[in-house]
Amino acid sequence: MKQDMIVILDLGSEENPRLAREIRALGVYSEIHPHDITLAELRALPNVKGIILNGGPNRVVDGVEIDVSQDIYNCDIPALLVDHKGDSPWPENAEERKQALSNFIFTICGAEANWNMENFIADQVELIRQQVGGKKVLLALSGGVDSSVVAALLIKAIGKQLTCVHVNHGLLRKGEPEQVVKVFREELGANLVYVDAVDRFLDKLAGVADPEQKRKIIGAEFIRVFEEEARKLEGIQFLGQGTIYPDIIESGTKTVKAVKSHHNVGGLPEDLNFALVEPLKMLFKDEVRACGKALGLPDSMVYRQPFPGPGLGVRCLGAITRDRLEAVRESDAILREEFAKNGLEGKVWQYFTAIPDLKSVGVRENKRADEWCVIIRAVNTVDAMTATVENVPFDLLQHITARITSEVKGVNRVLFDLTPKPTGTIEWE
Ligand code: XMP
Repeated sequence: MKQDMIVILDLGSEENPRLAREIRALGVYSEIHPHDITLAELRALPNVKGIILNGGPNRVVDGVEIDVSQDIYNCDIPALLVDHKGDSPWPENAEERKQALSNFIFTICGAEANWNMENFIADQVELIRQQVGGKKVLLALSGGVDSSVVAALLIKAIGKQLTCVHVNHGLLRKGEPEQVVKVFREELGANLVYVDAVDRFLDKLAGVADPEQKRKIIGAEFIRVFEEEARKLEGIQFLGQGTIYPDIIESGTKTVKAVKSHHNVGGLPEDLNFALVEPLKMLFKDEVRACGKALGLPDSMVYRQPFPGPGLGVRCLGAITRDRLEAVRESDAILREEFAKNGLEGKVWQYFTAIPDLKSVGVRENKRADEWCVIIRAVNTVDAMTATVENVPFDLLQHITARITSEVKGVNRVLFDLTPKPTGTIEWE
């Protein structure tokens, strides 16, 4: 193993992710583990040079103050106890904190600043091989950042022992299913099962206008298709997952309640009985991107903007029809192309088009024509809880409008959404 590690044991501090990032910023890999880890489990982690027992306001769980086992206090690994309740030795001032941390990590623990993506990848490759041995792993590869990075890492570690399943549900952006096939099958030589489930999804969604119902149908159908593919394959024992650290935090820890439950795969039947391989589960989003880049994935995959799980399904408003779905996909592609050309691609957090179930009168070739309209949305946000509207240059908006109304079949009007969140949400449904 190439990297040294400082383990943070969670004694109820909400600051643990921040602390892990501070340690990583000093060049040392850090992981957070629950307070009830045993000494044997701790010893099984690679290259642990020190432990930080980080207490905080959630230290009392169900009326009982939690603590780590006495064995861990007594063992020979250097430990720092940080209790935010009492007379904490932990400075609040950033520079002093950094000094205190450096002193502990480098002087007391003797750790080396050897955390970087190359070492992380090398260590994960070794750990994945140890876990999987000669067995087979299955992965649902959506083409999103996390599943793409985990796929690339698993391919590097176990090659053809991995089977990726890409379900094209017809709700992806223009060119995305093709890119998944090109990058993973053709360039990285992966075992990739491409499932064309477009008709199946659109048939299930036909006539369904309620957004929550649409989301449920898409989620449930996805699991069904994936499960069918899993059953066709023989001898799979592991399921790869692109779980990342924020997913774990949001799902709740032993000391912090869940914000929302994550169900990357949720709902797969028990008899499929896979063990999980989750090599990114200790990485933050920017680190996942850096990992993908170091693995050679294209920027368009690694830096792609957030895209809702139900995809264009929630941007084709109301009951999805094929003509409007095609119009939203084509107009979105034009918007993305123009934003890229005009330097807005890396600047704007999320931008897309939505198509309401609304026709208006217009003129085409001197004749009255009732056609659809398309809404452009372009927003910036830090955490997606609130958002502001990007000040897109007016002449660019006019140019995009001209392109959409001339190139996208059945669209005669383009609108720009000026609403921040709140009161609007980022998506339209
Ligand atoms: P809203 O519309 O709630 O969106 O302001 C906030 C962020 O979440 C994304 N979003 C979703 N992501 N499944 C997802 O995986 C969904 O059903 C979903 N709905 C919204 C949205 O794109 C934005 O980034």
